[in-house]
Amino acid sequence: MIQYEPWKIRCEGREDTKFLESIFSQANGYLGSRCSFYMDGAKAYERCNYLAGGFEYISPGVTDMVNLPDLFFFRLSLGTGDYQSFSQSLDMSNGLFERKSVWKDKEGRETQIDISRFISMDNKHVSALSLELTALNYNGNIDVLMGIDGKTVNLPVEDDQTKENLDTLSLLSVSETETGEDYCFLKADSKASGRLHAAMTARIFQTKGTAKDALIPDCPAKELNIPLVKGEMVRIEKILYTEAVLQDSKAASQAFQTLSKGSQNLRPHVINHSFGELLKDSQRAWKSRWDQADIQITQKGNDTSLQSALRYSVFQLIQNCPWEDSGVSIGARGLTHGRYKGCCFWDTDIFLLPFYLYTDPQAARNLILFRLNTLPDAEENAKALNLPGARYPWMCAIGGIEQCQSWDIGRCEIHITADVAYAVENYLNVSGDETLDNLPAQLYVETARYWAGRFSYDKRKDVYNLLFVKGPDEYCGVSGNNAYTVLLARHNLRLALQAVRRKEAKAGVTEMNKWQDIIEKSRIEYDSDRDLYIQDDNFLRLEAFPGQKAGDGSAAYHQYDFDWLQRYQVLKQADLVLLMVLKPELFTKRQQKAIWDFYEPLTLHDSSLSFGIHAWAAAYLGLEEKACEYFDKSLFLDLEDRMKNTGREGIHLAAAGATWQAVVFGFAGLSLGNGGRPELTPRLPRDWEGLSFHFYIKGKRYLAVIDEKGGKIEAEEE
Ligand code: BGC
Repeated sequence: MIQYEPWKIRCEGREDTKFLESIFSQANGYLGSRCSFYMDGAKAYERCNYLAGGFEYISPGVTDMVNLPDLFFFRLSLGTGDYQSFSQSLDMSNGLFERKSVWKDKEGRETQIDISRFISMDNKHVSALSLELTALNYNGNIDVLMGIDGKTVNLPVEDDQTKENLDTLSLLSVSETETGEDYCFLKADSKASGRLHAAMTARIFQTKGTAKDALIPDCPAKELNIPLVKGEMVRIEKILYTEAVLQDSKAASQAFQTLSKGSQNLRPHVINHSFGELLKDSQRAWKSRWDQADIQITQKGNDTSLQSALRYSVFQLIQNCPWEDSGVSIGARGLTHGRYKGCCFWDTDIFLLPFYLYTDPQAARNLILFRLNTLPDAEENAKALNLPGARYPWMCAIGGIEQCQSWDIGRCEIHITADVAYAVENYLNVSGDETLDNLPAQLYVETARYWAGRFSYDKRKDVYNLLFVKGPDEYCGVSGNNAYTVLLARHNLRLALQAVRRKEAKAGVTEMNKWQDIIEKSRIEYDSDRDLYIQDDNFLRLEAFPGQKAGDGSAAYHQYDFDWLQRYQVLKQADLVLLMVLKPELFTKRQQKAIWDFYEPLTLHDSSLSFGIHAWAAAYLGLEEKACEYFDKSLFLDLEDRMKNTGREGIHLAAAGATWQAVVFGFAGLSLGNGGRPELTPRLPRDWEGLSFHFYIKGKRYLAVIDEKGGKIEAEEE
């Protein structure tokens, strides 16, 4: 059970280890680490450290996120025994993880073992571990092996949501190790294509005891012998510097062979600062992050869990974003797990981007640049499917080449292309960025060309159909005219038309009439008696869902096959409900209510993306009780393991992003009014007394303050 303090989460005892490894994972946008330790019995594929963009090919064209050598590796010579006490915490104000424990061996000797670690927010290459040992009731010696373990492996996880792989893969080979007086160094290269070269240096020092080099293959380390005197604490520090070189080329992606062997000049880089000094620097950097992104909630009563859990969502969003780098995006689980092989989805464009857009415009710009710069890859994806224009990948890792292996999702879940166009427009509207030249226009035009190729014209009826598509609701099978996709594709076509009319796109666009025709004649099922948009052509023909979701919150696809699920009126996640909040202007109030009333009861929320969006939609519609119910589910999704997969899969970043949107767009009701001016329409839950947060619009910083009397926005001085 997690305990909540305003800036800290804490857990006493050693319950589900994997769950806690996910919950306490740490990152700085460049390097991420699951909180797993060799001394807890974590296996070589469970001690996970990742680099943003650190992918390697596991078969031609298909990648996985490489599990780096174990940076935080150490081993203690404790006699057999057990923990007397065990408590772990994560301080969200500075990213510091702490574990305090007492080990009692069979002879009754009690040793206090305190571990602290952080990944610096100040210098992306730096991370550190501190180990404090105190003999509580004896004098004696303890051996500590402290180093970098290069024998870690990957456990690639299938795209398929029901299968777990059991075969590990060794993606790295250690090409150099070195030990100096107070440091050890390891360099490793990815085996298949040699695109990744990673080097790690650990400076190791201890307040007492002796050190000698350990002779372990692929694991440069120091063997420390520490004399413990009853009641006296001895500290061992490991200060790490991690850097990597990534080399990409067409040949690397196709050839699946070693192109270069560790020629990069990566040498030991010893950091001479202490754990405490480096933590202070990191804390300063975290503070400026929090100044931008914190949301303060005042509530009736003294329950701090809501404030703490909301900070946890923001904490994960901050630490998993490679904000300085437009060459990589954010995977569905960020740097907290290798689920989906680290790939990025529409999660980034629809669920995550708004957080960065309003709190860290530079990070948002880089995420958008990632999409703009991978337009050539999107063109290749379209070409591979015999289509014109550009088609964004459902899953991508290096660049924008499609990584999704399954046909029904990889080929048919095509709304991602319209989601990307929507995100680019959203970015431009909110940021006011005018420095991207004609890149957005080019993206609108090429994606419009794709849509024009993808719709089928039915001559008999003079209509366009979008056939064989899967909407956001992945239980709908492969159907026709998914309304979410058609409506956003129309919007994408409109963006392209505007760009051409404003002469923003390159000259030579001749397809405008066809685009206009598709906008006007594309078909969506609509029930005019109920004023209800029908999700897709098949939906009304499906039977009522006869199944039941397991009571523990795990997804129904673990019990029922997707083939079975697709035959019933049952939704995996928000589909039209999502579109209703993304583009409310497309619907009348009556249509919005009809969408909610019809689809909400049919939705199982078997994707973590669903709860937060339902909270936002319910707040928007004034359904306070539903809004609070869904908000609670999204807010505590990982912290309370609501989907029973946080340990197995890592942190669900899109849920964190949707939680943020539920607060800012749902409860605070932030929107852009006339002339792009920010406005609030507060709809706070009854037991919230107030809410305040900062946000950016068009480069200007604002403060939003909401209390029981209403909301106001103040522009901050430049
Ligand atoms: C959801 C998708 C999502 C993916 C990655 C799936 O379970 O249905 O919408 O993009 O997970 O988070």
